[in-house]
Amino acid sequence: MSDSPQPAAIGHYVDLLMANLTRSIFLGEESHDVNIAEWEGLADLEMDAEPLLDVLRRSGVRLTRLGGDSERRQMGQDFPPAAETMVGQKRLAEVRNCVETVIKDGIEGDLIETGVWRGGVTILMKGIVEAWADLDPYGGSRTVWVADSFDGLPAPNIESYPADAGLDLSEMALLKVDVATVKSNFARYNLLDDRVRFLEGWFSDTLPDAPIDKLAVLRLDGDLYESTMDALVALEPKVSDGGFVIVDDYGSWEACRKAVDEYREANNITAPIEQVDWTGVHWRTQR
Ligand SMILES: C[S@@+](CC[C@H](N)C(=O)[O-])C[C@H]1O[C@@H](n2cnc3c(N)ncnc32)[C@H](O)[C@@H]1O
Repeated sequence: MSDSPQPAAIGHYVDLLMANLTRSIFLGEESHDVNIAEWEGLADLEMDAEPLLDVLRRSGVRLTRLGGDSERRQMGQDFPPAAETMVGQKRLAEVRNCVETVIKDGIEGDLIETGVWRGGVTILMKGIVEAWADLDPYGGSRTVWVADSFDGLPAPNIESYPADAGLDLSEMALLKVDVATVKSNFARYNLLDDRVRFLEGWFSDTLPDAPIDKLAVLRLDGDLYESTMDALVALEPKVSDGGFVIVDDYGSWEACRKAVDEYREANNITAPIEQVDWTGVHWRTQR
């Protein structure tokens, strides 16, 4: 890697972007919904709380607890109420490191995340690409691809992908974030332009024919065996020599790990897997 110093202003901008995308700097002000009916403080009141709960519900009052857990946010182990990403500071820092490395090393190609939720990781990728544009040999030409159903995960297809048995997150409303919301999240940071492109639909439909020529960074975050394998088969061959493949769910979902291990073995990929935190890993492509 080139050891040219990083301009201070870029460093400060990217630090701030990461801290804001995870809401790490606003943790004390964050409100977390509490289910009134299950609120443990009610038991201490030693009274029939139902009439009170009824009044509160009818008046649209929500009970919230102030403050997030900084350790969990650091490690990406909670569902943040407002942050644009759930991956946490540690894995975001790894994305930053990979993107800045491909820029400094002049590795050709676009950047993509498959499985974006509210879009935070791709917003970070775009922010870094823009901040480094004048120092990047491919500055001005890198596209950030944002691939998702924008409607949550598919139901597991156990016949074709038995490893996904028991991993049905398809009804989880929290994971369904529509494309308009993700676009407006980019716009909040003034990072929505025609070099951010959205691939909307199931990976099996959108990725094989996506008009992507080369990738410098491929980040997988689709949880399932099927979602991980679909993304690897369609996109890993497009990763440039010296580019990165990042896998969010390697440590947390056995199905994902199995897809990665099988793909690497079938394609003789021996580049070492580097562990990032309790779940994230990456490897650097050697062609
Ligand atoms: C855990 S979330 C991703 C978290 C995100 N990377 C972040 O920064 O917070 C998983 C995402 O993958 C998407 N997804 C999973 N499998 C998919 C598939 N086969 N096709 C399209 N989208 C998929 C879901 O819609 C969801 O947005």
